[in-house]
Amino acid sequence: MTSPERAAHPDFRGRVALITGGASGIGRAIAEGFAAAGATTVAADLNEAALAELAPAGIEAVPLDVTDEAQVDRTFAGVADRHGRLDVVVNCAGVVSRKIPVTELDVAEWNRVIDVDLFGVFLCSRAAARILQPAGSGRIINVSSITSKIPRLNMAAYCVAKAGVVQLTKVLALELAKSGVTVNALCPGGTVTPLLEESTSGDGRADMDYRVAGDTSVYRMGVPRGRLATPDDHVGPTLFLASDAAAHMTGQAVFVDGGESVV
Ligand SMILES: NC(=O)c1ccc[n+]([C@@H]2O[C@H](COP(=O)([O-])OP(=O)(O)OC[C@H]3O[C@@H](n4cnc5c(N)ncnc54)[C@H](O)[C@@H]3O)[C@@H](O)[C@H]2O)c1
Repeated sequence: MTSPERAAHPDFRGRVALITGGASGIGRAIAEGFAAAGATTVAADLNEAALAELAPAGIEAVPLDVTDEAQVDRTFAGVADRHGRLDVVVNCAGVVSRKIPVTELDVAEWNRVIDVDLFGVFLCSRAAARILQPAGSGRIINVSSITSKIPRLNMAAYCVAKAGVVQLTKVLALELAKSGVTVNALCPGGTVTPLLEESTSGDGRADMDYRVAGDTSVYRMGVPRGRLATPDDHVGPTLFLASDAAAHMTGQAVFVDGGESVV
C-alpha cells in the first residue's frame, strides 16, 4: 500500500466497494487497494478465518457463499443499506478445477466449478445490477481469466466458466449501458496465489500449459514480461476500471497477463 504506484491510484473516498473472494489472493489485494484509496471496503468470502485478518487494513469482513442466492441478495442489500450506497462490486471469488480430462470428468466436479465460477458470478452480478441500475451509476468488475480465451488441458469446467463470465459481462454491459453502470471483466494471467499453487501442484503442473511440458521456468518464459503476475498487478487495472476515468469503457475483457494472451 506504500508503493508510489499505489499512491497514484484514483481517489475513492466517499465510495463503497464490495469485493467477493476478498479474503485471499487477488481479491484481497484488490480489497486492500480500495481501502488504501479511501473507499469504504467490504470483503465477502467463504473463508471466515482469512476474513478475520482484514480488520487491520480497515476492511469490513462479511461471510458469504456466492452460490447461495438468498445469502447473496441479503448480503448485497445489507451492504448498500448499512453504508447508504454501493458504488463498486468486484466479483473475484473462485475455485480452480482439478486436472481431469473431459472423458473422466464427473458431474459433481463439473458442477462444483461451474457453481462458484459462473453461477456465483451470475448471482453476484445480478444482485449488484439490481442495486446499481436504479441508482444510475456504478461499476461491476467480474474476474474471469486468461483461460476464457486460451484453453488449458484438463480444465474444461474452469475454462468454460471463465469464458461464460466474459459473455455474461458483455450481455449485462449491454443491458445496463444506458444506466450509467459499466460492466467489465478482468482476465488475469497466471498469478502467484494459493489457487495457482493448487492448480499447478503435483501432476497438475505438467499440463498447466500445453506449450510447456511441465517446466515451470519455461512456463514463466511463456509470459512475455518474463514473470507470473502477483496479486498487486491486478490492483491498478481494477481501480482504473472502477474509476470515473473509465466511464465510457463497458463490456470489455481486460487481460492483465504480462502479454501471455497475445503470443
Ligand atoms: N491465480 C491465478 O493464476 C488466476 C488466474 C486467472 C484468474 N484467477 C481468478 O482470480 C480469482 C481469485 O483467485 P485467486 O488466485 O486469488 O485465488 P484464492 O484461492 O487466493 O482466492 C479465492 C477466494 O475465493 C473464495 N471463495 C471460494 N469459493 C467461494 C464461495 N463459494 N463463496 C465465497 N468465496 C469463495 C476463497 O475462500 C478465497 O478467499 C478467481 O476467480 C480465479 O479464478 C486466478
